[in-house]
Amino acid sequence: MKSIIYYFTGTGNSLAAAKKIAGPLGDCDIVPVASFADSTGPVVPDAERVGLVCPVYFAGLPAMAATFAERLDLAAADYVFSVVTHGGGGGAAALRQLDGILRDKAGRGLDAGFAVSMPGNYIQMHDSPAGEKRDRLLEAANAELDMIAGRIGEGERGSLPNSPVVRIVRALTYPWFRSHVHGNDRKFTVSEACTSCGTCAAVCPAGNIEMVGGKPVWNHRCELCCGCIHLCPAEAIQAGSRTEGRQRYRNPSVEIAELERQREP
Ligand SMILES: Cc1cc2nc3c(=O)[nH]c(=O)nc-3n(C[C@H](O)[C@H](O)[C@H](O)COP(=O)(O)O)c2cc1C
Repeated sequence: MKSIIYYFTGTGNSLAAAKKIAGPLGDCDIVPVASFADSTGPVVPDAERVGLVCPVYFAGLPAMAATFAERLDLAAADYVFSVVTHGGGGGAAALRQLDGILRDKAGRGLDAGFAVSMPGNYIQMHDSPAGEKRDRLLEAANAELDMIAGRIGEGERGSLPNSPVVRIVRALTYPWFRSHVHGNDRKFTVSEACTSCGTCAAVCPAGNIEMVGGKPVWNHRCELCCGCIHLCPAEAIQAGSRTEGRQRYRNPSVEIAELERQREP
């Protein structure tokens, strides 16, 4: 059976998860959601098994992943699954949100959905884990992803987690996130440490960063993935006053060059 996994990522966790799941599935394409951002209209997957892998934001889906899901034409799909990566919780609500979008727009929901804990990257709120703590988290996530890949390969159906409490959290916080997300970059600044390397612009899945006079300028189409902040080799990008000195993060199984290719069609 041919498979396609669409992914959205800021710091690589979701791409690493997509790659780990794709391995045992055999004939499987891994396609960035960001590569559809400049087009409109239905997305028709060229595969019978279709997956979406993305992070959890505010106990829901990243805005770009939600908009992408609305475009999916699943008429020819035999099996539809999702894996969401998160730093602590909210996966059940994000999966339920996706299931609802697909039922509304594509006329069929998820066959299976899984949430996997990975290192958190919401640097505006907290440090990312480092050292042994990070390694332990990734080791546990990898073991879980191997198991999930097996369950997807067997075509398991009906495993969609539920959490009424998390759904309440999502109802309280997610609408705020969606209405403020694109302009959040107004808080972003760049310091003298910037070397004009352009990594921030290249990795941005939203194509939101322009280099002007060798420095990044944010154009208010931000997805709040925090990739520019985490991946700047000089740690020259801050969001407000709280991110200075906080631990940066990139999933070690993903190279910067892979993150730079997200918008390529
Ligand atoms: C804006 C934002 C909001 C987030 N919200 C949540 C959340 O509600 N629950 C959670 O457990 N993790 C949350 N996280 C952490 C990410 O879901 C987690 O680190 C994810 O694995 C990052 O995936 P990526 O490396 O593919 O971008 C958030 C991260 C960001 C940047």
